[in-house]
Amino acid sequence: MHIVDLIAAKRDGRSISSNDMHELILGYTATDIPDYQMAAFLMAGYLRGFSYEETVSLTDAMLASGEQLDLSQLSGPTVDKHSTGGVGDSTTLVVAPLAAELGMQMIKLSGRGLGFTGGTLDKLEAIPGMRTNLTTKELIAQVDRIGLAVCAQTDNLDPADRAMYALRDVTATVGNTALIASSIMSKKLAGGAHAILLDVKVGSGAFMKTVSDARELAEVCVALGTTSGRATRALVTDMSQPLADTVGNAIEVREAIEVLRGDRRSRFVELCLDLVGHLAALSGVAPDAETGRARAAQALSSGAGLDRFRRLVEAQGGDPRVVEDMSLLPSAPIAHDIRAPHSAWLATVDAEAIGRASGALGAGRETLGAAIDAAVGLALDVKIGDRVHGGEVIGRVLARTEDAARVGEHAVLDALAWSAQPVDAPPLIHDVIERAKQDRAASMSRSRLKDGADADVLAPAAVT
Ligand code: URA
Repeated sequence: MHIVDLIAAKRDGRSISSNDMHELILGYTATDIPDYQMAAFLMAGYLRGFSYEETVSLTDAMLASGEQLDLSQLSGPTVDKHSTGGVGDSTTLVVAPLAAELGMQMIKLSGRGLGFTGGTLDKLEAIPGMRTNLTTKELIAQVDRIGLAVCAQTDNLDPADRAMYALRDVTATVGNTALIASSIMSKKLAGGAHAILLDVKVGSGAFMKTVSDARELAEVCVALGTTSGRATRALVTDMSQPLADTVGNAIEVREAIEVLRGDRRSRFVELCLDLVGHLAALSGVAPDAETGRARAAQALSSGAGLDRFRRLVEAQGGDPRVVEDMSLLPSAPIAHDIRAPHSAWLATVDAEAIGRASGALGAGRETLGAAIDAAVGLALDVKIGDRVHGGEVIGRVLARTEDAARVGEHAVLDALAWSAQPVDAPPLIHDVIERAKQDRAASMSRSRLKDGADADVLAPAAVT
C-alpha cells in the first residue's frame, strides 16, 4: 500500500478497500504513517465522503487498533449509553444508577469536556476523592458488585480514535458523519457491552445542527452496532438549549443529586427516564421502553437510584456523604443573579454560547489536558417557551470574581432571544432509530455502481 496512492484515491472519489483501510489505520496508530499524510487523507475523506462499506471498514480497523473489553465474567445484561455531546448534559449521573437499579450492568466509559461541551469525568471528579481511572480488573469487579462503573477508557482501548480525534480537532475534519460514526462506534464496540443506546443530540448546543444530519448519524451508528451483533438503538434528542438547568461541573453534580432525591421535575428528568426505559427494553430487562420507564420512575421516587449513586461514589473513592451534604462539593465565592431584560417568552437559546460562557468562567477547556475549575458554572432556570417578567431572576453565574460574573451574565443574556408572542417548547425526542438501515447502505452502494459517482456517500454534516 502506498499511502500517497490512497490519499489520491480518496481525493479523486475512488473507494478504499477494507485491507487498505486497515493498513492505513493500523499504520497510523503505530506511528508509521505521519500526521501530515493522515491529515491529508482525512480532509480528502471529509470533502469526498465515505461509502457505508468504507465506514464499516474504518470502524473495524479502529476497533482492531487496541484491546476490547471482555465482559464475559459478568452475568449481564451489560449496557452502555453514549451521548454525542452537548451543554448541561449530565444524564449519565442519573441514568447509570437507575439502570443498575433495574438490574442492568452499566459499563460507562466516559470522556472529558472539550470546547463548548462538558465531560462526565470532569463532573464526577468534582466530588472530593472520586477516582475515574479504574483498571479493567477494578472496573469489572465493581460492575459485578454494584452494577455500574463510570470511568475513563484505558489507553489501550481504541488508540486509533484517540490519535485521529486529536488530529481531526486541529484540522477542521470533525464534522463528517462517517468519521463521527466510526469514532463513536469503535469506542462503544471496544467497550464490550451487549446493548448500546446512543443519544444523538441536535441543535444549537450539539455537533449536529439539523435533525436530518442527526438522524443520518443515528442510522449509521445503529447499522454499525447491529451488524456487529450488539443490540443498538438511538434517540435523536433536542439540544437547542442546555438540557439540564445547570452548566458546569460541581453545579451539574448538585442538580443530578437533587434529581435523584426526587426534588426536581424537568425536561432533563424526563429524558433520563426515557433513556433508562429504552436501555431496559434494549437489554431485555423490560418488555418495552414504557414499562422500563415506569420502573425507572419508581426507582427514582423510592430513593433507590440515589442510594445506588451513593454506592457508585463510595466504590470509586469519593466521599459518599456528598449525597446528603452538598456543601462538600466545591463552591465558588461569587453567586451573581441573571435577570430577565423584559417581560417576554423565551424564543431561542444559543446553547453553544452558553457552553462557551461556562468554559470562559473556567468550567471547560479549549485544549486537551488543560485544568478546569470544578466550582464555577451557570444556572439557567428558563426554557424555550417559558414566559418571564422583566427583572425576574432567570439564572445565576458562579464565578471566582465579580468581573468574571458580569462577563458571564452578559454572555448568557446575549445567547437568549425573546418573543412578544407565545412560543412552543421544542420536542424533547425527535426520533427513535431502532432499525439498522441496511437498505440505506445497500442503496448507497447501488447508486455508486450505477452512476459511477460518489453522490450518495456520507458527506460532511452541518457540524461546527
Ligand atoms: N464524539 C466522538 O466520540 N467522536 C466524534 O468524532 C465526535 C463526537
